[in-house]
Amino acid sequence: MTLAGRKVFTVYLRDITERRQAEAELRAYREQLEDLVSRRTLALVSAEERLVTAINTFKGGFALYDAEERLSIANENLGRFMPEVLPHVRIGVSMEAMTRAIAAANGLGEDWIRERLALYRSHEEFTAQRQLRNGQWIETSVRHTPDGSTLFIITDISQHKQAEAALRQSLAREKELGQLQREFVSMTSHEFRTPLAIIDASIQRILRRRAQLSSTDFDALGGEIRAAVTRMVGLIDTILDTSRIDSGTIQFNPQPCDLRQAITDVCKRQQALATRHRIILDLARLPDRIIADAVFMDQITTNLLTNAVKYSPNGGDVMVRGWTESGAVAFSFTDSGVGIPSDELARLFQRFFRARTSTGIAGTGIGLYIVKRLLDMHHGTIHVASKEGCGSTITVRLPVVEMPIG
Ligand SMILES: Nc1ncnc2c1ncn2[C@@H]1O[C@H](COP(=O)(O)OP(=O)(O)OP(=O)(O)O)[C@@H](O)[C@H]1O
Ligand SMILES: [Mg+2]
Repeated sequence: MTLAGRKVFTVYLRDITERRQAEAELRAYREQLEDLVSRRTLALVSAEERLVTAINTFKGGFALYDAEERLSIANENLGRFMPEVLPHVRIGVSMEAMTRAIAAANGLGEDWIRERLALYRSHEEFTAQRQLRNGQWIETSVRHTPDGSTLFIITDISQHKQAEAALRQSLAREKELGQLQREFVSMTSHEFRTPLAIIDASIQRILRRRAQLSSTDFDALGGEIRAAVTRMVGLIDTILDTSRIDSGTIQFNPQPCDLRQAITDVCKRQQALATRHRIILDLARLPDRIIADAVFMDQITTNLLTNAVKYSPNGGDVMVRGWTESGAVAFSFTDSGVGIPSDELARLFQRFFRARTSTGIAGTGIGLYIVKRLLDMHHGTIHVASKEGCGSTITVRLPVVEMPIG
């Protein structure tokens, strides 16, 4: 600067120590802050990773929608429960879109969608159970967080459901057994009483009129007593058979046997007793040998033939046919008796069941139950065709078992 013709220099000196210090402090502070932020971020990331791992290891399905109803977290197992909606599961998808996808995959209509969305939005906690198309049972629980998020937790409850069904089944079985027992008691007391009454009456007559009775009278009364005893023995055998079948202690002994001969023998026996019936045989088309349990075949045939005779109280013809079909041998009994009402056909093989049309004809309702169980052991089937008042045809089919050579 020129001052009064002379050149003058001015020098200012300022102490900037404080500024420098402040700058250094600021830098240090920034670095500290950056460090803190990066450490916090790391912690956050690992916390999120831990959370995601935890959610993914959760066996159930997990989905979290934010306050705007956008999917923000979903675990891998969500897709396990709903593979059909898996393509829709992506972050940001709306709750409504997902609900619609689930409805579409499970054949649920617009009403279900509306009802569910209203429920989710009501912010009430709710739990629902549903069976998936693959048979699996799931339980969906919906919860809400204070920030307005909606949380879905889906758990597999198939095992619970199975246990529940098994329990219900065993309870029903228990009930049924109780009922069976009651029926059994009433049936046996009734069925035993009749032959006992016959025996008692015959013996009373013998005791009272011993002197007047001729030898023919004696024979007749003795015959009646024996028939009643036979009936009771038969009853006891039947009861024992059922209990052996039920407990699985009955011996199943399949061997080559002559079915034609077995049926013929039973028919001969039955014909000797049935004076008002004609038993007609047509068994030529049966094979010479089949593999079956001969004792059971006798029981099956006896039961079915006795029924055919017993349930045609006015007598008539009973046709016994036998033939061979592809893969099976079959035989049938046709009578023209009282028949079975069509609404009762399905219950015939239940223990103690007797059709309405059997009123007045003695029986316990066990015969067909035993027949069915014995046929089951042979993997055979039984079919009943009947018209009330016109008669019945009962057909048995046995699968042909390959005969061992030699
Ligand atoms: N051929 C038939 N015609 C008409 N009804 C029949 C015939 N066979 C069976 N049924 C009906 O089916 C019911 C069950 O038959 P099932 O042989 O099991 O018992 P049941 O003959 O009454 O007694 P049992 O145990 O002494 O054989 C009979 O009570 C009868 O109502
Ligand atoms: Mg019977």
